[in-house]
Amino acid sequence: MERLYDGVLVEVENVTRSFGSGNTAVHVLRGIDLVVNAGELVALYGPSGSGKTTLLNIIGALDRPTGGKVMVCGKDILKMRDGRRAKLRRRQLGFIFQNYTLMPTYTSAENIDLALRLPGMFILERRRRTKSALEAVGLSAWATHLPDQLSGGQRQRVAIARALALRPAIILADEPTSGLDTRTARRALSLFKGIARAQGTAFLIVSHDPMIADFVDSTYDLHDGKLHLRAKDEAIETPPHIEETSVDEKTKVISAED
Ligand SMILES: Nc1ncnc2c1ncn2[C@@H]1O[C@H](COP(=O)(O)OP(=O)(O)OP(=O)(O)O)[C@@H](O)[C@H]1O
Ligand SMILES: [Mg+2]
Repeated sequence: MERLYDGVLVEVENVTRSFGSGNTAVHVLRGIDLVVNAGELVALYGPSGSGKTTLLNIIGALDRPTGGKVMVCGKDILKMRDGRRAKLRRRQLGFIFQNYTLMPTYTSAENIDLALRLPGMFILERRRRTKSALEAVGLSAWATHLPDQLSGGQRQRVAIARALALRPAIILADEPTSGLDTRTARRALSLFKGIARAQGTAFLIVSHDPMIADFVDSTYDLHDGKLHLRAKDEAIETPPHIEETSVDEKTKVISAED
């Protein structure tokens, strides 16, 4: 797998987001600063309603902040024209969101292919990427099934495969392991880590799952509208001899296709 990205990929500066106005205004984000570098995995925790999805939506250019600055891949997404912002979103951002669902009348493989239908991406390349992404999430045998023929966790893995197949600069994941058993969740996280390290893709992962903190480079807690960086020693390191092996295996699966 070749290195595709380097440098700072996400730069959030003093971002605020309020909903409503006057007395009924809710100030969800109250000055968020966040920098994410290429190849970095970041976990974002916080109680329900603390604004985690709101922040991912802003970084993913799906929502605009009330104030502040958001740079994605070195570009100020708030000053961009709509067309260019849509293009950046489609090419450079992978979404693993629960409400960003699969198209019900398309198979697993077709759902992935749809995300790859970009100028300059030809059918053979799309097929190759679709195949290796499905393999990486262990769903090769489910390529021609429709979403409603899959379990919730399998659908979640198709959504993961779709984001990975794009090879975007940044993957925004909102509770990506919520439908998965512990073993499958660990595999997915090892896969993310392998891809981050090899390709330079940055991962921003929102979750309630404490296990994720073991896999990432930095962990933040969002509360009272502010981000708090968790000290490194608060996270428990995963034994490398177990997890790194599976990273390598998964990386090989993907690079074998290249
Ligand atoms: N479009 C909107 N209009 C009004 N309020 C909103 C809107 N989107 C989010 N909110 C409010 O912002 C707050 C944060 O919501 P958000 O979805 O970001 O929380 P979260 O941290 O992702 O929670 P959870 O863990 O439950 O998913 C909530 O109080 C919610 O009601
Ligand atoms: Mg949420």
